[in-house]
Amino acid sequence: MLKLQSHIHTQIKDISFPNISHYNQCSFEELFDIESIAKEINQRAEVLLVIGVGGSFLGARAVIDALTPYFAPDEFGVEVIYAGQNMSGAYLHQLLKYLDKKEVYVNVVSKSGTTMEPALAFRVVKQYMEKRYGDESKQRIIVTTDAERGVLKQIADNEGYRRFVIPSEVGGRYSVFTAAGLLPIAAAGIDIQAFLNGANHAEKDFENDNIEHNAAYQYALTRYEMYKKGYSVELLASFEPRLNKLHEWWKQLFGESEGKEYKGLYPSTVNYSTDLHAIGQFIQEGSRIMFETLIHFEEVEADMEIPFTFDDMDGLNYLGGRSMNSINAISKDGVALAHEEGGVPVVKIVMPKLDAFHVGYLMFFFMKACVISASLLEVNPFDQPGVEAYKRKMVELLKKDAVLVNE
Ligand code: PA5
Repeated sequence: MLKLQSHIHTQIKDISFPNISHYNQCSFEELFDIESIAKEINQRAEVLLVIGVGGSFLGARAVIDALTPYFAPDEFGVEVIYAGQNMSGAYLHQLLKYLDKKEVYVNVVSKSGTTMEPALAFRVVKQYMEKRYGDESKQRIIVTTDAERGVLKQIADNEGYRRFVIPSEVGGRYSVFTAAGLLPIAAAGIDIQAFLNGANHAEKDFENDNIEHNAAYQYALTRYEMYKKGYSVELLASFEPRLNKLHEWWKQLFGESEGKEYKGLYPSTVNYSTDLHAIGQFIQEGSRIMFETLIHFEEVEADMEIPFTFDDMDGLNYLGGRSMNSINAISKDGVALAHEEGGVPVVKIVMPKLDAFHVGYLMFFFMKACVISASLLEVNPFDQPGVEAYKRKMVELLKKDAVLVNE
């Protein structure tokens, strides 16, 4: 299924890795509710606004961008847009103006219910929905949060909003297979059963203790070996623009899980061939600090043939009749050869097809590899103490500022 090409020399240490199979357990009833609410959203709305930050929106966005058409994705399912990932007043102002022209549902996703960015955005959007839809806003706002705790749960209970749960043992960046990811993904018209099926297959494949047969272990060990050799950056690259947000999800997954106790590879991403004409120069000839992981999907659902021309003015007739995707695939091999020659080791992850099943498979693969990789570094893959530090400082400053403003 997933092919990994890398050179590993490191021996596995005597170390036990946390099990994450419970990150992929959506009950039949919950799946049914998610699918029926997604259907309702598609019947009654033109836009689903997802409010969340970090792990509470990146997984859904990664999958939606990877699997919906580049243009007019709303012809596939409802248009999914996002808020609560920044504190830009201009963004919120323009968002509400845009919503005015559309029928809207809102899914606010926050496990803690207290994260500043989504909490502020929800405060504004809740008021907007109440003004616009009155009592019907209660039907149009859906909350995804912890089962027991948090302000958002209290708000949902007080207002009578429908509610989905992020299980308390599943952290944000590992939550794409819970309702946090599944509701927006289903509303966007993607087959969530196929997506979960892919994750289930990956879970089974990567249970294998034998490193020879376990690509998640191999990838984790390759990263560890690179780190030990002094590489400090892993560059994730792919050749399909719709994977940009999958890169962002990967970056958060590895960055937040490993970057602690002054350890960890810095996860960085590039999109080819766009970035070959930007940062490509640095990759080829700049500081030798990085290795590169290339993701390639062998089959992408649409393609285009390069036409022959009578005069061959641009000299490209030698590519006439070739498919654009096959040229893209060869450019990947050219990039790998050039970068290796330039001193950037290349790891390749090859997937058969870009569809819901294989994206689910790949995301579970990365989650599993991330937990193994963090464990090799002897850091906790599931906490994020550094993020908490910034939140505390910001709230301190905001409170000081509020006192000054009120004086
Ligand atoms: O992975 C994580 O745990 C974080 O990125 C969180 O998802 C992010 O900080 C948002 O937290 P919450 O869902 O509590 O609003």
